[in-house]
Amino acid sequence: MSPAAAASGRLVLRGGKPLTGEVPVRGAKNALPKIMVASLLTGEDCTLRNVADVADVAIVSELIEAIGGTVERPERGVIRIRPGNIQPMERSVLREFSGRSRIPILTCGPLLARFGDAPVPSLGGCRIGQRPVDFHLNALQHMGATLHEEASASHLTCERLQGAKIKLEFPSVGATEQVILAAVRAEGVTELSNAAIEPEIMDLIMVLQKMGAYISVDVDRVITIVGVRQLHGYDHTALPDRLEAASWACAAVSTDGRIFVRGARQVDMMTFLNKYRQIGGDFDVRDDGIEFWRAGSELRSIALETDVYPGFTTDYQQPFVIALTQARGISIVHETVYEQRFGYIEALNRMGAQIQLYRECLGGLTCRFGQRNWKHSAVIAGPTPLRGAEIHIPDLRAGFSYVIAALAAQGDSTLTNTNLIDRGYENLNEKLLALGAEIVSVD
Ligand code: EPU
Repeated sequence: MSPAAAASGRLVLRGGKPLTGEVPVRGAKNALPKIMVASLLTGEDCTLRNVADVADVAIVSELIEAIGGTVERPERGVIRIRPGNIQPMERSVLREFSGRSRIPILTCGPLLARFGDAPVPSLGGCRIGQRPVDFHLNALQHMGATLHEEASASHLTCERLQGAKIKLEFPSVGATEQVILAAVRAEGVTELSNAAIEPEIMDLIMVLQKMGAYISVDVDRVITIVGVRQLHGYDHTALPDRLEAASWACAAVSTDGRIFVRGARQVDMMTFLNKYRQIGGDFDVRDDGIEFWRAGSELRSIALETDVYPGFTTDYQQPFVIALTQARGISIVHETVYEQRFGYIEALNRMGAQIQLYRECLGGLTCRFGQRNWKHSAVIAGPTPLRGAEIHIPDLRAGFSYVIAALAAQGDSTLTNTNLIDRGYENLNEKLLALGAEIVSVD
């Protein structure tokens, strides 16, 4: 996220009350913008439903319009994209979007497929690690693209992308999406191994299948794509946001409340639900959502490791740790996806948590950060009462986690830089009020 985009929003919360009531979740923040990017692969109109008002949707809408497409909103939650008139992307357009989001890198595959030329953006997104794009660029070069590195802006060119055998060093979500988006219109077969298989990727694959693509997801993280010349438009309802649903679940258990998350879907959240139950959370799965609460009076400690799907997703980690500060005993969390995803712990300790960070891998999973000086394991002693504090929000998930911590704490907390939370949590203040949270002031 660019510093310019990052510095606004202030929320004062009074803690100590359980959150109780109902909140809706709509389409997944980590699926919607990618499905919008898929529209660049066709000249036909595309309709996307269950669209949440989150920053990346607005950014990708602007990006599509900046290259000649139109994006209409015929009704709330529906987006109609008309990509018929899109043009190759000028460098100046890309510069405008660089630093605002991580999504623009995913336009490389579709623009190469359509025009044989794609500028390479420098990226925004939350600062939770180095987050390079080497897998993306290596894969596209493997498929026949040439990278022209220039001081001002690099770009990729190709005749027609060629199918290839590609193995990712790590099952990266973005790189998997990049390869799929590039391969659907490439010549021949692409076999991607060590691919990520997150539910949001499956949703993108379903969209592409509707558009006429041939994609199979085989055992052991292998995805095979048979390229076609042309793709059609789509009409698709995006999957619900499991990360937001899990965040509210953590809010329920941390404040000893009860929250029904309308739209939450069990199939995407099975790993989370197992861990939730292990620490003493309970839930009721219904056709229209999941209700979350604390089973007994006390929560229990746990040892867990974040991992790629179907493991315990890294984006669950921060809100879950807030719940663990309220659990009896010593919990251990080994973060294996991002090297710097514990930056939020210092402020949490100021609120009264007792969390120590370690460079060692405190878990059984092989991890890329072990011998490299990153503090990527946390030991949490609980339960610790929390007290209000002044906190500057560093990234999206940490931001929501501080909201939970502030609501579980005694006293007032002042959170600044809250616009980062809007990036992934639609109508946050309205939802908090609906759950009975006490908002002292907001600006
Ligand atoms: N990586 C590389 N090289 C690459 C790409 C990734 O080394 O070319 C590394 C990253 O540095 C990281 C790991 O691979 O250590 C995983 O990164 P990945 O590519 O999977 O992440 P991403 O696609 O940039 C998406 C989500 C993240 C989520 C991760 C992992 C979006 C817009 N973002 O990011 O969501 O944490 O996958 O599941 O889909 C969030 O929602 O808060 C969030 C950060």
